[in-house]
Amino acid sequence: MDLESFSAQLEELRSRALAAVSKADDPAELDDVESSFLGRKGELRELLGGIGQLPGEDRPKVGALANPIREQLEAEIAARRSRLTEIALDVRLARERSDVTLPGRPLAVGSLHPLIETQREIARIFSQFGFVVYGSPEVETDELNFQLLNIPEDHPARDLWDTIYVDGTDGRYLLRTHTSPGQIRLMRDSAPPIRAILPGRCYRYEAVDASHGFEFFQVEGLMIDEGTTMATLRALLDEFARAMFGPTTRTRFRPGYYPFTEPSVAFDISCLICGGIGCPACKRTGWLTILGAGMVHPVVLRNGGIDPEVHQGFAFGMGTDRIAMLRHGIPDIRAFLANDLRFLERFQ
Ligand code: PHE
Repeated sequence: MDLESFSAQLEELRSRALAAVSKADDPAELDDVESSFLGRKGELRELLGGIGQLPGEDRPKVGALANPIREQLEAEIAARRSRLTEIALDVRLARERSDVTLPGRPLAVGSLHPLIETQREIARIFSQFGFVVYGSPEVETDELNFQLLNIPEDHPARDLWDTIYVDGTDGRYLLRTHTSPGQIRLMRDSAPPIRAILPGRCYRYEAVDASHGFEFFQVEGLMIDEGTTMATLRALLDEFARAMFGPTTRTRFRPGYYPFTEPSVAFDISCLICGGIGCPACKRTGWLTILGAGMVHPVVLRNGGIDPEVHQGFAFGMGTDRIAMLRHGIPDIRAFLANDLRFLERFQ
């Protein structure tokens, strides 16, 4: 063995090692290549282990021959390693590429229940006339639901409201049959001038059919001020009807009866289906009744703490369900609370 053939073996090792490094195409394979050439039991060490066979004066030159080769191999392995990491990332990116031209997943957007939407629309219109929204409880006393509204016990007018009473309260508590008890609460809670609407749920012991529910919604209205008259009521309701049902809507007052208003009226709008000619929807009359109203009875004003000699006012009460049915052409009141998604999703 002489220096020349030692150098030739080193060169041969270098070129095999370089070839193996550039051939390695995953990190584990590269680790194997590294340890088989540069490791503690690798080929380079083995070769250097043989320098004892060289003539003494040649031995110091071995380092100068071998070190650059080791450094080169280390550098090539490091470069190959980072290249392999890059390639792995490229492969992953290619595999996981997202197609930005695909349509997005639709978001499930909810919507207001048609009764709530109608209630809000009513509130929006009346707010333009300075009316605020006043809340009032669904469980009421007999006193507020009836007596203070000028409907004494045993009065035949009670037959107008089939009532659901709360068990175990001796008939003192009931589910309100209308939003009118809120009138008394509001009058006692504030002072004229009063302009408010009172929306909410009501209950009646009712045989359920396409136009009657035992649970339904009303919007009550109350306005009390000096010099408030039937003319004010008429003008307000006309404006409301046109805002709610369209500018060509015609209206009429008919005489009505409620114990808590005097005089009392029923308020009709021209039929939305036939325009007033007469059709099954309006029972061939050309008119649809949408609310009851009247001037607040002096007894009721006094019960609310208001002096009827100074202040007058009117009240009205409309069925939210009926108005929502008219707006959306819904034929059956039972649809509102049946909780059928196929129905509810139509109002998105
Ligand atoms: N409370 C009445 C009803 O439910 C409606 C109404 C309200 C009538 C206010 C006149 C004034 O039938």
